Amino acid sequence: MSKNFRIGIIGLGQIGNYLYHELNRKKKDIENKTGKKINIIGISAKNKNKKRKYKINKKIFYSNPFDVIKKRPNVIFEVIGSPDGISRKIVETSLKNGIHVITPNKALIAKHGNYLTRLAEKNNVNLEFEASVAGGIPILRTLKEDLSTNKINKVSGILNGTTNYILTEMENTNQNFKKVLYKAQKLGYAEPINPKLDLNGFDAFAKVRILSSLSFNSKIASNKCLMEGIENIDIKDIKIANQLGMRIKLLGLTELINGKLFERVHPCLVDKKSYIGNVNGVMNAVIINGEPVGENILQGEGAGPGPTSSSLLSDLMFVLRGNIQKPFGIPYKQLKQYKSYNLENYSNSLYLRFEVKDVPGVMSKITDKLAKFKISIKRLIQTPGNKSKKATIIMITHKTTELNIQKCLKIINKDKNTLKPATLIRIFN
Ligand SMILES: NC(=O)c1ccc[n+]([C@@H]2O[C@H](COP(=O)([O-])OP(=O)(O)OC[C@H]3O[C@@H](n4cnc5c(N)ncnc54)[C@H](OP(=O)(O)O)[C@@H]3O)[C@@H](O)[C@H]2O)c1
Repeated sequence: MSKNFRIGIIGLGQIGNYLYHELNRKKKDIENKTGKKINIIGISAKNKNKKRKYKINKKIFYSNPFDVIKKRPNVIFEVIGSPDGISRKIVETSLKNGIHVITPNKALIAKHGNYLTRLAEKNNVNLEFEASVAGGIPILRTLKEDLSTNKINKVSGILNGTTNYILTEMENTNQNFKKVLYKAQKLGYAEPINPKLDLNGFDAFAKVRILSSLSFNSKIASNKCLMEGIENIDIKDIKIANQLGMRIKLLGLTELINGKLFERVHPCLVDKKSYIGNVNGVMNAVIINGEPVGENILQGEGAGPGPTSSSLLSDLMFVLRGNIQKPFGIPYKQLKQYKSYNLENYSNSLYLRFEVKDVPGVMSKITDKLAKFKISIKRLIQTPGNKSKKATIIMITHKTTELNIQKCLKIINKDKNTLKPATLIRIFN
């Protein structure tokens, strides 16, 4: 590697613009710590004249991002963020031209990580993506390096700050989902135009896929998995959870069960006194269970320009120090491919909320159906709707399988007295 290290940044939005500012601000520090001179030789975004928070040097701005690659930098930061198209092309072209790539783009890695890893290995360059999972938390390098001799059994946690903020704020303010989402958008915690990918669990799921690969030395899976978001969580659920001494959290989990990979993202009821029950607001937390290390917990800010740039610069330091490493820790050829765990066997205690017509016999109809599928009730809370002729029935069940509950709910949801599909939240010990 030449002593003079040339850097290109493609994408100057929330993250890219802050990264550009940080790189200029920390230039001397980075040079002192690595012994390498660094220079930003090219930057690109869609609109050259857009007003940005941190002023850019227009002399090194290229409207065509591929012109930055043509300047032959040593490393490219891809900070656009699409799962395909331009982002993929930039990463692909850079790797093929022997340029190291650093990106926070989880959607791209979760979708094309296997292919891009092979390209990076073939061209003997780094493909680093620490910032793609849990923002500023140094989770990927911890798995790749510090815990690399451990057998990882399970990784779980809160991987999306937007949804954690919304759930926390609903509890704290007693406001409904829509109002709190609006507030989150105003504060910049949720995407202003299309927040769907955070809310429906997709964002957390992409992170789970990356975590699985690093934890279990496996290729990025493409199996069908359980992915549920928080769009159907009502303020009623938050209040009742509170009465039960619990909180609702959107968790991402990955584990190997009898050699089968089980990746999932869904809301969970967790004990208010538990560690994860107290990770609130925009905070993220990742819990790693390994052998012989035991349980490790990492907590921090999971998004935002500051934490994300911290991880991007940590990747840069790694590259500058000359650590050329396989993107997933071991050579691609050695990565395993696991079959997926049968979701039908997933077994949990459940919180069920039924919205029904307030007519005689409605409750016994539900309990009969549950009994038919061997689902036993631990606790029952009924709130009649007074004059509205509607009632809310909450049930906490003993452990039951997904197979049984899904079959049972299909029937209950079709009943003429059911006003809305039932809400199901899994309860965690
Ligand atoms: N925001 C966070 O807190 C966060 C946290 C962790 C990871 N990430 C990841 O970071 C990445 C960037 O996110 P962001 O929030 O910074 O997105 P953003 O604010 O939407 O910025 C996207 C940037 O890409 C530029 N761009 C779009 N199309 C382009 C093209 N064809 N050629 C060149 N530039 C193009 C845009 O240019 P203009 O500015 O000219 O429009 C903009 O500067 C994503 O992968 C995201 O998942 C974000």
